Amino acid sequence: MGYRIVVVGATGNVGREMLNILAEREFPVDEMAVLASRKSLGTEVSFGDKTLKTQDLATFDFSGWDIALFAVGSGPTKEFAPKAAAAGCVVIDNSSLYRYDPDVPLIVPEVNPQAIEGYSRKNIIANPNCSTAQMVVALKPLHDRARIKRVVVSTYQSVSGAGKEGMDELWDQTKGMYVPGQEVEPKKFQKQIAFNVIPHIDDFMDDGSTKEEWKMVAETKKIIDKSIKVTATCVRVPVFVGHSEAINIEFEDFLDEDEARDILRESPGVMVVDKRETGGYVTPVECVGDFATFISRIRQDSTIENGLNLWCVSDNLRKGAALNAVQIAELLGNRILQKG
Ligand SMILES: NC(=O)c1ccc[n+]([C@@H]2O[C@H](COP(=O)([O-])OP(=O)(O)OC[C@H]3O[C@@H](n4cnc5c(N)ncnc54)[C@H](OP(=O)(O)O)[C@@H]3O)[C@@H](O)[C@H]2O)c1
Repeated sequence: MGYRIVVVGATGNVGREMLNILAEREFPVDEMAVLASRKSLGTEVSFGDKTLKTQDLATFDFSGWDIALFAVGSGPTKEFAPKAAAAGCVVIDNSSLYRYDPDVPLIVPEVNPQAIEGYSRKNIIANPNCSTAQMVVALKPLHDRARIKRVVVSTYQSVSGAGKEGMDELWDQTKGMYVPGQEVEPKKFQKQIAFNVIPHIDDFMDDGSTKEEWKMVAETKKIIDKSIKVTATCVRVPVFVGHSEAINIEFEDFLDEDEARDILRESPGVMVVDKRETGGYVTPVECVGDFATFISRIRQDSTIENGLNLWCVSDNLRKGAALNAVQIAELLGNRILQKG
């Protein structure tokens, strides 16, 4: 006996990837429902070798369904996730709505799987922000060895992190640069994204940081350890898929770069590619479609007592969203629901 699964936002970037990953990882599915907005009613999406027709989230009855993987943004999530949860269906949510709720576990299965026990308080589990997910996979094993005091991170985030519209804008604007009269004005992004970088993701906050930067701070504390200080600068770059991060870490104890490399090689979800030669590191185009978080450029930071630098790359639609959500579903299945 397997699970009755609902994918909410099945026509979107993350929803489609969740369907791919559920099929790839042979998640024990008895029945699958795919939902989106009313305008997508009847739209076909693929699940393994099956084609499914999209239903309307607004009229769907979640009773009798085991797990709903939500990827629709905070607005519709606020309206429909509590309804699904009240109907007895466990919600795994990709939006930021519940991430900071003390009654909702925020989980990266390689890092804090034990937090799953708290799911029953609201029947909702939160998936972290894409930039946080890949970073904490790298930080946790190093924290366990040498206690992290402070992290300084700069991100290079792909346009797929802004959904289908973000990808379309980069594509159309890039083509438009070469065709007089077909220039595309910024709409999804704040400034031109083609051949440019934009140090602004999500809204500005009172202290001058952006909400995206604040998310990395708050989520790292909730997932690993509230004593870790994080300062972030989040930047959108003209890459379709794959987020990159330059991470500087200050530890309580000394951690040698070779030992850090060995620790990361043994860590779940991490792939170390770190040859000190041309091409001996991973770039975002190489991580697309992969499950791993790739770590390169591991080196001592000689300007502080106990410091390391590293480069971290992952497929934001996978580890940053869909894969992590499916891993949470696997964890829930194995530890709690125990079907299949
Ligand atoms: N992309 C990432 O890297 C990433 C990472 C972490 C978390 N997330 C989060 O995941 C969620 C989805 O992101 P995405 O990149 O997949 O966005 P997307 O490509 O724009 O897709 C949005 C999906 O939500 C559906 N939707 C929107 N409004 C709806 C409504 N009122 N009722 C029902 N369905 C509705 C859309 O259906 P229609 O096609 O019918 O409009 C579509 O299926 C967001 O909360 C995002 O913040 C994304």
